Amino acid sequence: MNDYTVKITGLEKIYTTEIEKLRILNKLDLTVQSGTKVVITGESGCGKSTLLNIIGGLDFATGGQVVCGKYEITSLKENELAEYRSNFLGFIFQFHYLLKDFTALENVFMPAYMAGAKKEEAFARAEQLLADVGLEKRLNHLPSQLSGGERQRVAVARSLINDPELVLADEPTGNLDPENAANVGNMLFSLADRYKKTLILVTHDKNLATCGDCAYELKNGVLVKA
Ligand SMILES: Nc1ncnc2c1ncn2[C@@H]1O[C@H](COP(=O)(O)OP(=O)(O)OP(=O)(O)O)[C@@H](O)[C@H]1O
Ligand SMILES: [Mg+2]
Repeated sequence: MNDYTVKITGLEKIYTTEIEKLRILNKLDLTVQSGTKVVITGESGCGKSTLLNIIGGLDFATGGQVVCGKYEITSLKENELAEYRSNFLGFIFQFHYLLKDFTALENVFMPAYMAGAKKEEAFARAEQLLADVGLEKRLNHLPSQLSGGERQRVAVARSLINDPELVLADEPTGNLDPENAANVGNMLFSLADRYKKTLILVTHDKNLATCGDCAYELKNGVLVKA
């Protein structure tokens, strides 16, 4: 088995618009050792979300190679990408994307159910994860009945339900006030520790940026040690 979860070599992303070619990622390299937590910062528009989306199979590269576990992302077909996203990945975004007509428990349970897990086991795991983020008394609340911080904690729990190898978090605390941001950020890092997850987190939050095992700044299309 590899000792790394992610290995990116010579990654390129060029957006071609009518007037110009925008070179956003320029032969970017990154190796993430298994079980480590990597934090990426960088100016708005430098390509952080683009990078995470390519790793997550939500966007495609225009050059280079991305290997995550046994998956070579850059050459996967659509159905293989779906399998990769469901089995290997957990996602957390700035906006929670919870299903509005489903309770917190159902929202966390859903990805496991979709992946074919047994109902009872999936519900038990969802309950445990919601307890892990301090929401054991909010299981049956709808997203509209939760605070912003609580919704983001549900999103953290949901990202872990399928026991992913890799968790990708794009500005997970970006919509929260400083106190809630610290709270959600700390929970995410401590759960990644407890469940031995590899984490790649993009943030503008200076406090959160110091919580990882290594920190990079995305600048001029490449990652430099921050
Ligand atoms: N479909 C597209 N066509 C052309 N340019 C695009 C497209 N999508 C993104 N871009 C450009 O690529 C650059 C990188 O975008 P990206 O969303 O990755 O930035 P970011 O670092 O995540 O910024 P932020 O911190 O504001 O979230 C931006 O300058 C954006 O304008
Ligand atoms: Mg972004």
